[in-house]
Amino acid sequence: MILKNIYEYRILILDFGSQYTKLIARRIREVGVYCKILPWNINEKKIITFNPNGIILSGGPESTINLNSPRAPDCIFNIGIPVMGICYGMQTMVLQLGGTVVSAKKREFGSTQIEIINSTPLMHNIKYDINPYGKEILGVWMSHGDQVSSIPDGFVLIAKTNNCSFALIANEKKHFYGLQFHPEVTHTNQGIDIIKNFVINICLCKKSWIPKQIVQHLIKQLKDKIGHCRVVLGLSGGIDSSVTAILLHRAIGNKLTCIFIDNGLLHLKETEKVISIFKTHFNLNIIHVKAEERFFDALTGIKDPEKKRKVIGSVFIDVFNEEAKKLNNIQWLAQGTIYSDIIESEMSLITGKLNVIKSHHNVGGLPKKMDLSIIEPIKKLFKDEVRKIGIELGMPYEILSRHPFPGPGLAIRILGEVKKEYCGILRQADSIVIEELRKYNLYDKLSQVFTVFLPIRSVSVMGDSRKYDWVISLRAVESIDFMTADWAHLPYNLLAIISNRIINEIKGISRVVYDISSKPPATIEWE
Ligand code: XMP
Repeated sequence: MILKNIYEYRILILDFGSQYTKLIARRIREVGVYCKILPWNINEKKIITFNPNGIILSGGPESTINLNSPRAPDCIFNIGIPVMGICYGMQTMVLQLGGTVVSAKKREFGSTQIEIINSTPLMHNIKYDINPYGKEILGVWMSHGDQVSSIPDGFVLIAKTNNCSFALIANEKKHFYGLQFHPEVTHTNQGIDIIKNFVINICLCKKSWIPKQIVQHLIKQLKDKIGHCRVVLGLSGGIDSSVTAILLHRAIGNKLTCIFIDNGLLHLKETEKVISIFKTHFNLNIIHVKAEERFFDALTGIKDPEKKRKVIGSVFIDVFNEEAKKLNNIQWLAQGTIYSDIIESEMSLITGKLNVIKSHHNVGGLPKKMDLSIIEPIKKLFKDEVRKIGIELGMPYEILSRHPFPGPGLAIRILGEVKKEYCGILRQADSIVIEELRKYNLYDKLSQVFTVFLPIRSVSVMGDSRKYDWVISLRAVESIDFMTADWAHLPYNLLAIISNRIINEIKGISRVVYDISSKPPATIEWE
């Protein structure tokens, strides 16, 4: 078997803080080419060392008109590789190369049409519509306040809109392109083809970032790195730790030991599912730790969500540590970190802005306590890529199609103090919801669906008696990256079935409400 170098061709994305930066990266990888996101202010040496075949400058929230706003490192315009600036990225490129930018009279947000003035390899094979005046047009997605008012020497106008004189510009000799619209957003017609033209035809990359090759590469890398050593992994049953487990198992077989901790805050029959899939089907070494009592004891009397997270995180570390110590001769601790986690921590190092809205539970405290080396096999992959790798590894659809489930589990879906009784109610409610969504073929179309336990009593009349029972809230969202989310417009008849079933089948529930808040400002979880 000849192993291909999956990193042979690569694109660098310099991030100016756009909400769409990760989307650019995902699109490039969909095209079959590796790419990396780095902050706009990295030093030139890093860029030269990365040796990209092309560079994309992302959009960003600032205004280039502000003198202190970010600029791209000047070297990128002199190293002889193609550069594509999107929105803010276009504007800074124009300014740095001698053009001008002004604040637009009319801001453009949402769908609009560009009118094509000249042809360019960037728009090769793009199928345009024709407007009533016989002009070629394309539907695109805009989101900007400033715009280019004059272009630098060597550039030509490719397309404009009614409000924006320079919607697409090109310097074909140098392979520099500026787009005021966002090709990475699906609302831009054939946006993926524009990105493909840049990556494949202009940067001359070949496709080497494909699941089969990624799997072969990762397995070989793990074998080389781990050798004859032993590895321990915390298996939660979620996609990331599951794919990490199977990859490691393929690389080092029974030198991998997984620790599955039942903290009493999991889905219905979760333990049985994990054991049957990973132990019985995949033949993995799994230590099943029943730690429910320890977690509930530690949570007694705690109402504050952040405190709950800290307590759960710290009990998890203690339990994991105790179990791992019982194993002999372990040198590595594997973690299912994915690329989004890495981007967030890299960005926060540069910007100094750490997302402290919710302290997300992770096992970051483990390595220090355990004196083990860390191995993170999927740290270069986005979630959708982890899924594709899972398919390639033959993992069951049931695991790969799961919605994300937070580390602190049901504890942050019970407002206030966590009690066993409430967890039992939520488990049943969730399982009814999931069952009905699957029947309606809606589970896979939604990003996250769950129920929340509201510890308030509301009246219901059952038979002839008045009862004061608990309230359940249903939360269903659609989201691209979980940074923003829309509440899902579920069909009324489905909501009716879910509500009926929850009230009739679960003792102690008087009322079901549907959460119709979007993020921002409401977060996805209630705590
Ligand atoms: P929010 O509620 O911040 O959620 O809009 C965004 C995503 O993060 C998940 N989430 C967590 N995941 N530990 C986790 O592992 C946590 O403490 C935590 N809090 C939120 C949430 O389920 C959603 O997918």
